[in-house]
Amino acid sequence: MPTVALADATIAEAAERLRAGELVAFPTETVYGLGADATNGTAVARIFAAKGRPEFNPLISHVDSTLSAHAHGIFDAVTERLAAAFWPGPLTLVVPRRAGSPISELATAGLDTLAIRVPDHPAAQALLKAVGRPVAAPSANRSGHVSATTADHVATDLGAAVAMILDGGATAHGLESTVLAVIDGRVTLLRPGAVTVETIEALIGQAIERGRHVDPTAPTSPGQLASHYAPRARVRLDAVAVEAGEALLAFGPMPLPTQGPAINLSHASDLIEAAAKLFASLRALDATGARSIAVMPIPSSGLGNAINDRLRRAAVGR
Ligand code: TXA
Ligand code: MG
Repeated sequence: MPTVALADATIAEAAERLRAGELVAFPTETVYGLGADATNGTAVARIFAAKGRPEFNPLISHVDSTLSAHAHGIFDAVTERLAAAFWPGPLTLVVPRRAGSPISELATAGLDTLAIRVPDHPAAQALLKAVGRPVAAPSANRSGHVSATTADHVATDLGAAVAMILDGGATAHGLESTVLAVIDGRVTLLRPGAVTVETIEALIGQAIERGRHVDPTAPTSPGQLASHYAPRARVRLDAVAVEAGEALLAFGPMPLPTQGPAINLSHASDLIEAAAKLFASLRALDATGARSIAVMPIPSSGLGNAINDRLRRAAVGR
């Protein structure tokens, strides 16, 4: 178990910063997490910018208790048993997302499922209680680096990008949580981790299917576990003019002229703002019934890579 006690004032400041949309790294029993208010799309976009991830993959939302988790995900009898047995602890459950959950679509990468867990670490618990909101947190390392298991690792990898690092000493497991999907009565292992498959199978008395680790770049089809939102409308990239019957997804201070429905991802050409608005904007333009969505060019620097990756997959369609 961790040996470093964090002062109440430190936890309170970290919670305040999270509520203000800043990034806070915090210890869990598995690895350090790079946390942001999961209900704030702009804050979640800052996670992707800080990590330098080339695509938006779905993040785990952390909450203080099973009761809090119920507000965001739909739990069946099997999920309830798993939560009762392993929470707080190193198990992440992927469940259908509850309609009305305020978790941002960027945190779930536009999926209709949600990864959620209750960490078992006194600092994480105190922080989540103080924030009173779900906290999205991938491992606190730069993309492609190994997961951070000490506050020093976090500082080396991400120091300048985070408002605060809570130092809880070395993490107990040093290995990420097990990720298990429970959807329509099927239990699928998405990532092996600190809780073993044998322990889970013994508890639920049911064999676990071995799922493909969710690859956000893989094409998806209806019925597949991780079905990403794909617009019904055709998506046309790098548009330099808007055609009749098209909706416009604009970017920057000079949106293309159009009579049709239009949303600007960011007048100020701010990629963090654009990432935060991306999923909701695609849905809103799709809902206008336009046959096609014309997308203005978006620079491929920083977060622009992840935005363009997502748009390219939307353009390929279902
Ligand atoms: O131990 C951990 O789980 C750490 C600490 C900080 O809690 N967090 C962590 O987060 O490892 P991250 O983002 O590095 O890994 C999240 C995993 C990814 O493999 C992702 O694909 C999967 O969870 N995941 C998240 N949401 C999902 C969803 N809706 N469907 C399927 N897989 C999902
Ligand atoms: Mg990771």
